[in-house]
Amino acid sequence: MFKALLITAAATALAAPTSVQLETRQQPGAPFQQQLTGWNEGAVSNFPIHSSCNSTQRAQIAAGLNETILLAEHAKEHVLRWGNSSELYQKYFGELPPFQVIGAFDLVVSGDKGGVLFRCDDPDNNCHQDGWAGHWRGDNATAETVICDLSYETRRWLNSMCGLGYNIAEGATNTFWASDLLHRLYHMPAFGYGHIEHVVETYDDVIEFAKNNTETNVHDSDVLQYFALDAYAYDIAVPGVGCPGEVSSSESSESATTSSATPSASQASTQTSSAPAECHTHDDGVVHCS
Ligand SMILES: *[C@@H]1O[C@H](CO)[C@@H](O)[C@H](O)[C@H]1NC(C)=O
Ligand SMILES: *[C@@H]1O[C@H](CO)[C@@H](O)[C@H](O)[C@H]1NC(C)=O
Ligand SMILES: *[C@@H]1O[C@H](CO)[C@@H](O)[C@H](O)[C@H]1NC(C)=O
Ligand SMILES: *[C@@H]1O[C@H](CO)[C@@H](O)[C@H](O)[C@H]1NC(C)=O
Ligand SMILES: *[C@@H]1O[C@H](CO)[C@@H](O)[C@H](O)[C@H]1NC(C)=O
Ligand SMILES: [Zn+2]
Repeated sequence: MFKALLITAAATALAAPTSVQLETRQQPGAPFQQQLTGWNEGAVSNFPIHSSCNSTQRAQIAAGLNETILLAEHAKEHVLRWGNSSELYQKYFGELPPFQVIGAFDLVVSGDKGGVLFRCDDPDNNCHQDGWAGHWRGDNATAETVICDLSYETRRWLNSMCGLGYNIAEGATNTFWASDLLHRLYHMPAFGYGHIEHVVETYDDVIEFAKNNTETNVHDSDVLQYFALDAYAYDIAVPGVGCPGEVSSSESSESATTSSATPSASQASTQTSSAPAECHTHDDGVVHCS
């Protein structure tokens, strides 16, 4: 039926000067064959893990990345449900509209996974350095992240959320595989686009910046991680309670509850003083090269 219509159209057009082009376009079969290729041909739905990772390493990185998706997915769902009227949202992003936050998480949840690679060899010879649990390869390979052995010893699973003394305000964001790998994904252009960056330096900054709607909070890697962890803790792990901890410089401290807020003392990893110039050292001693 469709074909018949086309033939009629071509016949009608024969007299017109464009008839040659029309006939060419209507070569039997040609356009239909092209359409057999789906628009998303070649889509990658699982994060690629390099052949240098053995079974043990691969299993843990894959499970960690699954938890990254789980963490990001809930964060997105929370914002989709409540928008910027959520108290939790406002704690991290003030009165800013929710588009960027939803997008940053959805890219990880639903976006194509093909633009990155996690590897377990140590091509830049960085893993021997004290406290290095992994690193972005930076200029050496912008789409690649190395996971060092320390990760397997220290990272926790999301089902330990709010346990083992962890709370959001005082705990390091890299306590969990989920948030650590989210951070590492955002360093790679396929997920961070150079747009997700590091502005805040402490948890206090996160909260202070949210109060005056600082725009960078919606594309700050740490703020996104803190929000996702807090939402997971409050909504999922310990419903309606969570484990927010306390902000150390609470000006409005009505009751001086002394919560010796020693930032991530338990995590105390030696600050890598010998970090190359292009690397940034986070509060908790995690170095990422950028
Ligand atoms: C994988 O490599 C790690 C680090 O070299 C090692 O500790 C572990 O035993 C290896 N696992 C297997 C199954 O070979
Ligand atoms: C990760 O999630 C995918 C999709 O849900 C699943 O097929 C896979 O088995 C999971 N892998 C691990 C290591 O949990
Ligand atoms: C939500 O975002 C809109 C648009 O920026 C803003 O006008 C509004 O005040 C915000 N609402 C809350 C509760 O923060
Ligand atoms: C990139 O490779 C060079 C040469 O091997 C190395 O010195 C440098 O530390 C590497 N950069 C990163 C970010 O690892
Ligand atoms: C918001 O407050 C922080 C800390 O008080 C300050 O550093 C920053 O410049 C402020 N930003 C805006 C947009 O007002
Ligand atoms: Zn970083």
